[in-house]
Amino acid sequence: MSRADPSGSSDSSFSKQKMSAISCHHIIKRYGETQVVHEFDLEVADNEFVVFLGPSGCGKSTILRMLAGLEDISGGDLHIAGRRVNDLPPQERGIAMVFQNYALYPHMTVRDNIAFGLKRLKVPKAEIDSRIKEVSDTLGLARYLQRKPAELSGGQQQRVAIARAMIKTPKVFLFDEPLSNLDAKLRNHMRIEIAKLHQALKTTTVYVTHDQHEAMTLADRIVLLRDGRIEQVGTPREIFERPCSAFVAGFIGTPPMNLVEMSVKDQGGHFELSGPDGVVHVEPHRFSLQGRERVTLGIRPAHLRVDTNGGRHGGFSGEVQLIEYLGNEVLVNFGQDGSEISALMPSAQGPQLRERVSFVADPQQVHLFDIDTGASLLRIDVPLH
Ligand SMILES: Nc1ncnc2c1ncn2[C@@H]1O[C@H](COP(=O)(O)OP(=O)(O)OP(=O)(O)O)[C@@H](O)[C@H]1O
Ligand SMILES: [Mg+2]
Repeated sequence: MSRADPSGSSDSSFSKQKMSAISCHHIIKRYGETQVVHEFDLEVADNEFVVFLGPSGCGKSTILRMLAGLEDISGGDLHIAGRRVNDLPPQERGIAMVFQNYALYPHMTVRDNIAFGLKRLKVPKAEIDSRIKEVSDTLGLARYLQRKPAELSGGQQQRVAIARAMIKTPKVFLFDEPLSNLDAKLRNHMRIEIAKLHQALKTTTVYVTHDQHEAMTLADRIVLLRDGRIEQVGTPREIFERPCSAFVAGFIGTPPMNLVEMSVKDQGGHFELSGPDGVVHVEPHRFSLQGRERVTLGIRPAHLRVDTNGGRHGGFSGEVQLIEYLGNEVLVNFGQDGSEISALMPSAQGPQLRERVSFVADPQQVHLFDIDTGASLLRIDVPLH
């Protein structure tokens, strides 16, 4: 079952209006008997920045490597800039790839590392020189051109790897976890650099990461993968505010969304959901709840407010089990052992350990999912809030 957003599917009207930079139609990858990518469908628009996000082993790198031509495609069609490239070697696909380990040549200077691909293509020297000047100015590398990679910081080496990709003026940039070898501070810095670079160059980009923060901040659209299948395609906001499944809901957002099993009672005008730590009322028009006895309720820790009404409007309550200090806020874990819920609140108002606390859930921010399949029960006509 693919729950991909229709705009991510290859036969949407979108693809007919405008030629896509990348078009993936039913792409499959098998290693021997094992299929690791299942009918992958995606249209990437010109200038778009698409991020593949998902847990380790879900197939992100495999798909990216098939786009690059570093891995055979077992089935389906891949088009780049309107041309079927399934059987074209990497250098003829108009792409440039940046990896996690930058794989710079240690014995060559920065200049020679950047120029390497162009020299191989027999580009005239004057043109190589002018392109090196352009990319090294853009990436702030002009001062380091005579150094060897070992004489650069991790972030500078990463920029050399990007320069080496940029100089080929590709139609498409492919990045596979380019920042994961860097420390947190440099990572933040380079993330902003990559965002700025994309603003300036607008080159169509597919970027692989398992870091949701990178995905949320860089992507025009996120493709969330799970076990070799697309789980959801959407803008960061759509994915965050309208996760199509409990898996997406639990994967996106820090601290993670609370997911709690609740039983459902139809009370006429509304549905009452009850679980071990509380009761929540939901309006019938928001969700498809008819005939259901149990659901998974999702509520983000930031969407629980301290209850000042003595539980009259429902809510969650329990004894504080753990308090995590995060700086401006504390994450309060409360409830019964094994069914704990967490709520985010200002540090100054944080409770004490073992204190009894009560929270109400913002009804607009409640998510409900099928207890078995995890599929969202939100009606599709409910507008984004
Ligand atoms: N050469 C191979 N032979 C067999 N299976 C492979 C091979 N390469 C990858 N796989 C399997 O394919 C699946 C997808 O791997 P892939 O490297 O694409 O994951 P990923 O999403 O990039 O993970 P990570 O975040 O850890 O990099 C995994 O289950 C992996 O074990
Ligand atoms: Mg990978």
